[in-house]
Amino acid sequence: MQKQVKIEEAITRKYPEQVVLVTTCGKDGKTNVMAVGWITVASSDPLMFILGIDEEAHTYKLIKETGHFVVAFPHEGMSTETLHAGKCHGNGRDKISEAGLKTQEAKLVKSPLLADAVANFECELVDMIKPGDCAVVIGKVIAAHSNTNSSLKRLYTVNKEREHVFTLSGIRPV
Ligand SMILES: Cc1cc2nc3c(=O)[nH]c(=O)nc-3n(C[C@H](O)[C@H](O)[C@H](O)COP(=O)(O)O)c2cc1C
Repeated sequence: MQKQVKIEEAITRKYPEQVVLVTTCGKDGKTNVMAVGWITVASSDPLMFILGIDEEAHTYKLIKETGHFVVAFPHEGMSTETLHAGKCHGNGRDKISEAGLKTQEAKLVKSPLLADAVANFECELVDMIKPGDCAVVIGKVIAAHSNTNSSLKRLYTVNKEREHVFTLSGIRPV
């Protein structure tokens, strides 16, 4: 049975939510990483992802500047690194090194692959729009990589410490 509640209350029932790490590389060669929970597939052929990325994020600026990024699926043991990527802005610091994330060179883009991720997708920017209070970035996958360890499971935003719980208005750094 359903009972009408406030939107803010109902949306808390969406968790656990998948989370990805988006890596970027600016024209100056500096790389960055950000956590993104608002992501889904937007097309299967060609494969495209749609991501909600706040315009204030350094990642947003780098994607706009270069037209490229990588979507990496962290495994369930990567919650500390993911939380670090999602807690602070990357301009003027090296979040990838700070978080101890291992990287690998991508094939077609300058943004790095995350070596321990379950999978990595090199993306080319298709469009950026702003339907509401958050910008939406659409990326076409131009190359993909999968971890040789096929038993790795993906990270979701609710772990046993429940560090990653967000409200509708509180998805920004915690
Ligand atoms: C689990 C998790 C999920 C997040 N999901 C999003 C999201 O979908 N969109 C967004 O704009 N920010 C999201 N954030 C917040 C950004 O990761 C955060 O603002 C980050 O500092 C941006 O980094 P940047 O400025 O270096 O790009 C999330 C944070 C965490 C920890």
